[in-house]
Amino acid sequence: MLVQEIIRAKREGQALGVAQIDHFVRGLVDGSWSEGQVAALGMAVFLRGMGRDEAVALTRAMMNSGRVLSWPDMPGPVLDKHSSGGVGDKISLMLAPLVAACGGYVPMIAGRGLGHTGGTVDKLEAIPGYTTAPDFGDFDRLVRSLGVAIIGQTADLAPADRRFYATRDVTATVESVPLITASILSKKLAAGLQGLAMDVKCGNGAFAATREFGEELARSIVDVATGAGLRTRALITDMNQVLGHEVGNALEVRGAIEYLTGRKPRESRTHALTLALGAEMLVLGGLAPDTASATVKLQAALDSGAAAERFAKMVTALGGPADLLEKPDAYLAAAPVIRAVPAPRAGRLSAMKTRDVGLVIVELGGGRRLPGDTLDMRVGLSEVRQLGDVLAAGEPLAMVHAADEAAADRAIAQVQAAMSIEDADAAWRAAPLVLAELG
Ligand code: URA
Repeated sequence: MLVQEIIRAKREGQALGVAQIDHFVRGLVDGSWSEGQVAALGMAVFLRGMGRDEAVALTRAMMNSGRVLSWPDMPGPVLDKHSSGGVGDKISLMLAPLVAACGGYVPMIAGRGLGHTGGTVDKLEAIPGYTTAPDFGDFDRLVRSLGVAIIGQTADLAPADRRFYATRDVTATVESVPLITASILSKKLAAGLQGLAMDVKCGNGAFAATREFGEELARSIVDVATGAGLRTRALITDMNQVLGHEVGNALEVRGAIEYLTGRKPRESRTHALTLALGAEMLVLGGLAPDTASATVKLQAALDSGAAAERFAKMVTALGGPADLLEKPDAYLAAAPVIRAVPAPRAGRLSAMKTRDVGLVIVELGGGRRLPGDTLDMRVGLSEVRQLGDVLAAGEPLAMVHAADEAAADRAIAQVQAAMSIEDADAAWRAAPLVLAELG
C-alpha cells in the first residue's frame, strides 16, 4: 500500500478503509510515515472530514497502538472525566478526588496545555515533588488504594495519538471533529474505563467555537465511545469566559485547594460544573440512582472533608508535600510581580475574548510556545471577574502575576483589550453554563 495513495484518496474526499487507517496508525508509531505525510493526511482529513466508520476505525487503531489497561477486579466502577480544553478549567483537580470519595475509582491520565488552553498535568507539576510519571505498578496501586491517581500520558499508552497530536498542534489541524474524537477516545479507551463524563467546551475559549461544532463533537464522541462499549455522557458547557477566578498553573492549584477545603466561598460556575460532571459520573458508575441524589452525595463528600483528604493523600503518595492543603503558600511558588488590571471605565463586564486571555498566560511564560518549553508555574491571573459583574472605573478586572514589570505591563494591556465593558444599565442576561446534555 502506498502512503501517497492513501493521502490522495482522502484528498479526493473518499472514505478510507480499515486497512488504510491501520497503515497510517502503524506508520505513526514505527516512523514509516514521514512528518510531511502525517501532516498531509491530517490536513486532508481536516478539510474533507471522515465518516463515523472511519472515526471508529481511527479511534480503535490509535487505542491499540500501545498498552490497553483493564481493571477486572476493582471493587467499584472505574470512571473518568475529560474536558475538550478550556481556560481556567481546573475541574479535574477537584472532581477526581471527589468522585473517589464517593466510591468511584478514577485512573485519570491527563494532558498538558495545548495552544491557549491549560492542562491538568502542567498544573500538578506546580506542586513540588509531585510526579506525573510514576511507574505503572505505582499507578495501579494508588488507584486501588486511594481510588484516584492523576498522572500524565505514558509513553506506551496510545503512542500514535502522541505523535499525531504533536503534528496537528503545529499544522493548524486541531479543530476537526473526527480527529479530536479519535484523539480523546483512543486514550480513554486505552485506560480501561467503564464510564466517561465528557465536558465538551464550547465558545470563544474552546476548540469548538460554535454551538454547531460543539454539538457535532459531543455527538461524535458519545457515538464512537458507546460503539466501543464505553458508557459516556457529554455535557456541552459554556467557555465564553474564564472558568473560575484563576488561570495559570500554581494559581489554579491554589484555587482547587481552596475549593476542596472550602476555605473560601466556592465560585458558583466552578461549583455547578464540578457537581454536574460528578453527578454524571456517579450515575454512570451506578453509585447513585439519579443526578439529584448524586449531587447530594458529592456535596456531602465536600462538606465532610473526604474529597480534600483524597486529594491530600494522592499528592503525598505521588511525591508532593504532606501538608500542602494546610500550607499551600509554603509550597506553591508565587510570582515576584503582582499587579491589578484596572477597568478602563465603569460599567458591566459584558464579554471576554477568552482565547486571548489564555494566550496572555502563554505570553507570561505559563504555557508553551514550542514543544518542550519549560513553564513558569508562578504566573497567570487571579481574581478574574465574571461576566455580568459591575465595576467602578479603575476597579481590578483581575490581578496579573508576572515574572517582571515589563511582562506585567504587557499582560495588563492584553487583559484590558480582551474584556468588554458596557453601560451597567444595558440589558444583561447570563448565558447558561450547561448548554446541552447527550448520551
Ligand atoms: N484534547 C485531546 O486530547 N485531543 C484533541 O485532539 C483535542 C483536545
